[in-house]
Amino acid sequence: MAFVLGIDVSTTATKAVLVDEAGAVAAIAASEYEFATPQPLWSEQEPGLWWSAAQAAIQAVLAAPGVRAAEIVAIGLTGQMHGAVLLDRDDRVLRPAILWNDQRTAAECELIRRAVGPRRLIEITGNDALPGFTAPKLVWVRDHEPEVWARIAHVLLPKDYVRLRLTGEHAVDVADGSGTILFDLAARTWSPEVVDALGIDGAWLPPAFEGPSVTGVVSAAAAAATGLLAGTPVVAGGGDQAANGVGVGVVEPGTMALSLGTSGVVFAPTDRPIFDALGRVHAFCHAVPGRWHMMSVMLSAAGSLRWFRDTVAPGVAFGDLVASAAEVPVGSGGLLFLPYLSGERSPYPDPQARGAFVGLTLGHDRRHLTRAVLEGVAFGLRDGLELMLAAGLAPPVQIRASGGGTASGLWRQILGDVLDAEIATVNTTEGAAYGAGLLAAVGAGWYADAAAAAAALVTAVPAARPGPDVARYRELHEIYRGLYPAVAPTFHRA
Ligand code: XUL
Repeated sequence: MAFVLGIDVSTTATKAVLVDEAGAVAAIAASEYEFATPQPLWSEQEPGLWWSAAQAAIQAVLAAPGVRAAEIVAIGLTGQMHGAVLLDRDDRVLRPAILWNDQRTAAECELIRRAVGPRRLIEITGNDALPGFTAPKLVWVRDHEPEVWARIAHVLLPKDYVRLRLTGEHAVDVADGSGTILFDLAARTWSPEVVDALGIDGAWLPPAFEGPSVTGVVSAAAAAATGLLAGTPVVAGGGDQAANGVGVGVVEPGTMALSLGTSGVVFAPTDRPIFDALGRVHAFCHAVPGRWHMMSVMLSAAGSLRWFRDTVAPGVAFGDLVASAAEVPVGSGGLLFLPYLSGERSPYPDPQARGAFVGLTLGHDRRHLTRAVLEGVAFGLRDGLELMLAAGLAPPVQIRASGGGTASGLWRQILGDVLDAEIATVNTTEGAAYGAGLLAAVGAGWYADAAAAAAALVTAVPAARPGPDVARYRELHEIYRGLYPAVAPTFHRA
């Protein structure tokens, strides 16, 4: 037997997924951790947690019956994007990593726009400066923690800290690298212009590799700590969204993915670096050579439904709640929901955006509110998709959906109607970790490239087709679009 190993260093756990030559998941293990919120808007994690959890997950996978470390031919890494891991010259951690969901850096985003020029920044990186990204976090440390800044010798992304502990090498993949917004999107490497403008020493930044390229091998020390075989190659892999794209077979232009978890992401590969001129959707490198991707990120997608269930219908199963929403008509009897419960990224990069129900009457009950949540999330995703279409993306025929929210047939149908595309589910369920495994399989020579790996292993099954409600939903979406501009001043004053 031969295996590849995908490791996903996420915000809540590090997961190891062992994939055999037929593409089947042979073993899976995860080790969980928390993130800290030492001040409002802050989100931090100790990098040591990731390495401890990676060791535990790898050891657990290796303990599965019939698995031997010598049979693992390559390892691929993926993980939460945009975090800032700061190390001194001896690779000691200087402060807790500042994570992708940290919102402290609104002022630093403005500093970056001014330092580089707002249009030039988008021209080079494909993106506006948003608090989620890495560069504003570095500027924050520069201006608030000069004693830390003075000792920085290396800057890494979260999964690349695990790579360092596994291989002793500093490296990043181009997908995660572009999520720092210190990258020249077209050149697929660091931008000296942006790096210099922010006072960052280019020597701190690791070399950037394409996803399937080998960046190093498991060291003797890491072998002793994990049970892996010393010398096992480790490929670059990709940030979690790009690796998830590979894992659900969304590699080539013309395909599209929707992930409907706590957040909602619409993800589309492109064959050139195209981006929104105002940076309202993200444009990053894909985890495969010669491909980029655009993506819109909604912060509370299935997270909105969870909040609603926990607040209004505690204890009610999601299936029952959503089934009751099918009893009320399209448009929820004139009720609209804005899903910006934790601020928003796409299409409104506004940490102060808030949720709202608009149009309540005495005639509405829980079923209408539930349906309005499902529809509001779909409308928000449509906003992101439309920005991507306006930037030059071809309208999707099929969207491959994954994540907890796609379990609901009603929600899939609403999404199919609102996005006006077939919604399909896929046979692979381990998303980013599986995608990292496929990138390792390409690195090991099992497949010519990630598209071939995905074509061989990922099958999509149609789960909803646009139906008779498409036209009505188009009208409702127009009404929905008017709401944020109308109520945003209230959010900003309240
Ligand atoms: C992508 C993003 C999240 C994080 C967390 O832009 O912010 O997907 O990578 O997983």
